[in-house]
Amino acid sequence: MSVAQLTLDPAYPIAPVDPRLFGSFVEHMGRCVYTGVFEPGHPKADADGLRTDVLELVRELGVTTVRYPGGNFVSNYRWEDGVGPVDRRPRRLDLAWRSIETNAFGLNEFMRWATAAGVEPMMAVNLGTRGVDDAAALVEYCNLPEGTALSDRRREHGVSKPHDVRLWCLGNEMDGPWQVGRMTAREYGRLASRAGAAMKKVDPSIELVACGSSNADMPTFAGWEATVLEEAYDQVDYVSLHTYYDPEKDDPASFRASAYGLDGFIDDVVATADHVRAKLRKRKRINLSLDEWNVWYQSRFTEPEDRGIEETPALIEDDYTATDAMVVGNLLISMLRHADRLSIGCQAQLVNVIAPIRTRAGGPAWRQTIFHPFSHTARLARGTVLRTAVTAPTMTTGRYGDVPVVDAVATHDPETGALAVFAVNRGTEPVRLDLDLRAFPKHRPGRHVWLAEGATTEPLEQTGGATVNLPPLSWHALTFEEQR
Ligand code: AHR
Repeated sequence: MSVAQLTLDPAYPIAPVDPRLFGSFVEHMGRCVYTGVFEPGHPKADADGLRTDVLELVRELGVTTVRYPGGNFVSNYRWEDGVGPVDRRPRRLDLAWRSIETNAFGLNEFMRWATAAGVEPMMAVNLGTRGVDDAAALVEYCNLPEGTALSDRRREHGVSKPHDVRLWCLGNEMDGPWQVGRMTAREYGRLASRAGAAMKKVDPSIELVACGSSNADMPTFAGWEATVLEEAYDQVDYVSLHTYYDPEKDDPASFRASAYGLDGFIDDVVATADHVRAKLRKRKRINLSLDEWNVWYQSRFTEPEDRGIEETPALIEDDYTATDAMVVGNLLISMLRHADRLSIGCQAQLVNVIAPIRTRAGGPAWRQTIFHPFSHTARLARGTVLRTAVTAPTMTTGRYGDVPVVDAVATHDPETGALAVFAVNRGTEPVRLDLDLRAFPKHRPGRHVWLAEGATTEPLEQTGGATVNLPPLSWHALTFEEQR
């Protein structure tokens, strides 16, 4: 069996683990909201129509921050449609997904859900069909306590305390030809700068995310980020990254090495942001918000124009394999490794739509394979991410060339002593992983949770150790406890 080696040392930290890395995304798309998080009349729904079975799974998943209400949906959304008396809310045609939006669930329902789920809301404003005035108005409605037209309107709607939303996205994927109101980088950068400035005048304490490219394969990638940041550097705090990995697009080895692609994508956006920083002679650094990421069988996607108009259609309800879960676990490893510049991560999406949680209307809610690496990583990654050196055999991929078969990262919490190691074998042969723990002489093995293609779709658990066999296509979380 081939061997990989991982050396761990608390003397080489990368950065603290930011809880916002374990975010998710609820969009008005398909059945994410309706019959997903919200289903009045469902046996498990509470008095507000929130599905308590889904809420329980969301809490178990360990999600910290949830982006809302889109996605492509936000670029033609009027947030006012979704507030106030439900019986007076309009039924609209949503142009992004060509679905009927009933508006039975809107901003205040989402905030109620976020409180019940124990997550921080991350709101997106519509910069597709709307602009500066609307963006500032939404911050006023959400964040001002009282005494202005919009804060008082919120109070009339039964919400006396401000929602106090810290994190805001300035539109969504504004470079995409599919986006309602798509713009050039210069146009968007200027709009983001003006909208951001107005929003921060309403509430100077908010944090703003500018749209980066829709993915690293966009023809304008990197140039887009540079132009947008040149225009909006002073107003924004983060630039977004979106990336989806399709198991059927490239050769299987490239799919299995998706996290290697994410490493490069993050490094390229950091380099671009820092290039603009140097060019503009700024002190402030722009950090990154990976606010859409996941495995998505995108080659099976039917364009909205090729479907009829429906209310709550079942859209992109992908079923995931254990290999997909390994890739998701590996993407989380990549995210942790970049904790010094990557501040926010939102897996897209949370329920039904390419999601870790699935539901049947009127029926049960269940976990998909990709639920498990997320929930364990969110729970176990604590303290500081350590710089880890992995030596491993390589595999050949069509997209990335030769890539190490084993990838890993570790976190160490100096307060509790907890040490956690996350590892994957993305190759098709078993590998033995030897951990060099000489810098942790008082640590003893704790748990070893893992899943592997062909072995199980539910995680298995056993006692851990410093030598672990990694079956092909497997994901692992190992804990070590300090003897104090
Ligand atoms: O998550 C599904 C869609 O993917 C989002 O609406 C959009 O932002 C992205 O293209």
